[in-house]
Amino acid sequence: MENIALAKKDLFKNGFLDIEVDPTLDLVEEIEKLKKEKNAIILAHYYQESEIQDIADYIGDSLGLSQQAAQTEADVIVFAGVHFMAETAKMLSPDKKVLLPDLKAGCSLADSCPPAIFSKFKEKYPDHVVVSYINCTAEMKTLTDICCTSTNALHVINSIPKDKGIIFAPDRNLGQYLIKKTGRDMVLWNGSCMVHEIFSHEKIAKLKIKHPDAKFIAHPECEPKLLEKADYIGSTSGLLRYTKENEATEFIVATEPGIIHQMEKQTPDKLFIPAPPNNQCACNECPHMRLNTLEKLYLTMKYELPEITLPEWVIKEGIASIDRMLEISAKAGL
Ligand code: 13P
Ligand code: SF4
Repeated sequence: MENIALAKKDLFKNGFLDIEVDPTLDLVEEIEKLKKEKNAIILAHYYQESEIQDIADYIGDSLGLSQQAAQTEADVIVFAGVHFMAETAKMLSPDKKVLLPDLKAGCSLADSCPPAIFSKFKEKYPDHVVVSYINCTAEMKTLTDICCTSTNALHVINSIPKDKGIIFAPDRNLGQYLIKKTGRDMVLWNGSCMVHEIFSHEKIAKLKIKHPDAKFIAHPECEPKLLEKADYIGSTSGLLRYTKENEATEFIVATEPGIIHQMEKQTPDKLFIPAPPNNQCACNECPHMRLNTLEKLYLTMKYELPEITLPEWVIKEGIASIDRMLEISAKAGL
């Protein structure tokens, strides 16, 4: 117990419960036990490590995870993802306990849009509708009219009357992609994702030569120059569906490589090649998503820490933007 007292004290500094886990424990078994004991559900994003995906009750994209968080009957939501996702779950289910294995699992896109600065920026366009990619802080959601994810972004933009100006934040790449697809003239916030911006054009070109029949598929958070070369552009769930439905047997995948675990499970006979970044690494993992580990997941469930809490005013003023997104998605059958 002394351990937990010390770990709790340092929780804010470390971001997670820094307690040694007995190496002989079967963590999968222990986590399953804790799930039942606490009526907990594990929601995991496709970018989590495979061990975590395999123990999750639901694995999905940002939209699917929000939908699950809104409708679950569990008492505890354990979010195997990043901070903004867990915050969204808390806004959708404020009476439930929401846990995140590592509070430092942030997001470069969310960080690229500080609410106080965005608020000043927004003042310059008083008649514009604010659409924010869900990858933003809870406070940013209080400054937003409608949230979107990459799965529903087109539907969200198309739901806004044509004569209305739009501010799109924080991802300029997704924003540019939407401008191209919808023909709408949107004001863009200049943010980006540290993972999707560093794919190497040169290494991808070489892979295409080596695998001439491979389809090149990319997430819309990638830069426009890369998206121009893609055979298919879509959210993580869109990419997964495409690899199942398309008759190609080889795919070069330009997004966080965690999704490849589900692609390989879904179609084990196909080949999935992670698009390499422009550094020494062979694949391009999100350093935030990968802060979560099976050990941290176990400790989080055992001690019910770290917990996501939000000021009441943030939930009250931010939830409308998420509810609006879920309504538009439901109407579109997403
Ligand atoms: P989706 O899973 O909604 O495509 O989002 C990708 C992402 O970057 C999550 O951080
Ligand atoms: Fe954020 Fe990019 Fe990581 Fe997704 S992949 S959590 S957008 S930094």
